Amino acid sequence: MTDPAPTKRLFIKTYGCQMNVYDSERMADVLAPLGYGMTDTPEGADLVVLNTCHIRDKATEKVYSELGKIRLMKQDMAAAGGQMTIAVAGCVAQAEGQEIMRRQPAVDLVVGPQAYHQLPELIARSHRARGERLAADFAADEKFDALPTERRPTGVTAFLTVQEGCDKFCTFCVVPYTRGAEWSRPTDTILAEARSLAEQGVREVTLLGQNVNAYTGGLAGLVRKLAEIPGLDRIRYTTSHPADMDEALIQAHAEIPQLMPYLHLPVQSGSDRILKAMNRAHTADSYLKLVERIRAARPDIAMSGDFIVGFPGERDAEFEATLQLVREVGYAAAFSFKYSRRPGTPASAMPGQIAEELKDERLARLNALLDQQQKAFNAAQAGKVLPVLFERAGRHPGQLSGRSPYLQAVHCDGPESLIGQIAKVRIDSAAKMSLAGTLADAGMLEPA
Ligand code: 5AD
Ligand code: SF4
Repeated sequence: MTDPAPTKRLFIKTYGCQMNVYDSERMADVLAPLGYGMTDTPEGADLVVLNTCHIRDKATEKVYSELGKIRLMKQDMAAAGGQMTIAVAGCVAQAEGQEIMRRQPAVDLVVGPQAYHQLPELIARSHRARGERLAADFAADEKFDALPTERRPTGVTAFLTVQEGCDKFCTFCVVPYTRGAEWSRPTDTILAEARSLAEQGVREVTLLGQNVNAYTGGLAGLVRKLAEIPGLDRIRYTTSHPADMDEALIQAHAEIPQLMPYLHLPVQSGSDRILKAMNRAHTADSYLKLVERIRAARPDIAMSGDFIVGFPGERDAEFEATLQLVREVGYAAAFSFKYSRRPGTPASAMPGQIAEELKDERLARLNALLDQQQKAFNAAQAGKVLPVLFERAGRHPGQLSGRSPYLQAVHCDGPESLIGQIAKVRIDSAAKMSLAGTLADAGMLEPA
């Protein structure tokens, strides 16, 4: 990976021991991918880091007196239309904590030893606090941070953005930097758009958000209101974070028939040590317990997830823990990725980056298991009668294509007049990606 040409100036003042000299170098390494290049004076620097030391007498007082000088430079810079960010790192930061910012309000952030890899997150948070976004610093990466925006062509189903951004700062992820803070659209606007979609013949909406279940005011309440809109027979949402899966939303799955029994709930790893390094805010066990509660509310729910293999430092046993979690959950669908370094994210600067061949090997093993589960889930539908929302004509003449409640593609022969309708289909056979069936009693169905 090559770093971008520096566009911002970084000044680091290092106090004390050899450890601090080393840490300062690591901080510079972590910040280089964000476009920070070293400068040897704090004057005019975009980011000033004081990497402090505790050992000698009056060390703390020295730091405050230095901060007093730098504050004036920050003021000069602001007067000239610039922005200086001041960070205090090292042992004094550890000892004094947030007290530093109370005593010297010009300080934007405080970062303790061993936490320098969190600098990108801390800088992003402090820039957010003054209303800036870091987006320009990151190359857009459609693979990991894009929401699906294109409308499906049929007009029967539609995506509806309800929330954007992310405050979770998983250490591998660019979204908190590129998309900024969590932000929810007002309920009224969403409901108005949903009504208009329904009037145009849309039968199913998928509520979108990077952290859709962090929707302000509660996603469950929004779903309840959407369920009252005539014609809107199916509601889905994606993507959810386990930490925001509240009781009300779980109950909504039990009580609201329009809410489809499919849940994309990324877990990323089955190892608690890796989950912690990922800053995921859940453990394997808390995730499993959550899935249990969701299944208690909606026993037939199809679970889907995201997984990352080869996160920095991932040992064989930790990867095995992911396989074990997958076995315990039983997924109907899944998305698995090889860890990929995103410049500027904390994980990209972590030691123990995994060789590509090992990632390939782990991904293949994980995918083999997930494929097997997906096939089993699909095969279990054979013989059942499912309500299918027909979206379009199928590939063969006379064939229709639609979706089951579990988001499986379903193909069956039938008249085009059924497009936009929900009808009962008897499932005859299942493949990895789709189901094939026949219309049951040519039966139109109650909305489901
Ligand atoms: N490397 C690999 N996978 C990633 N994802 C996000 N960032 C990375 C990365 N740096 C995956 C996560 C997330 C999904 C949208 O993309 O699994 O849930
Ligand atoms: Fe990225 Fe999702 Fe984690 Fe947010 S919750 S940082 S979007 S992986």
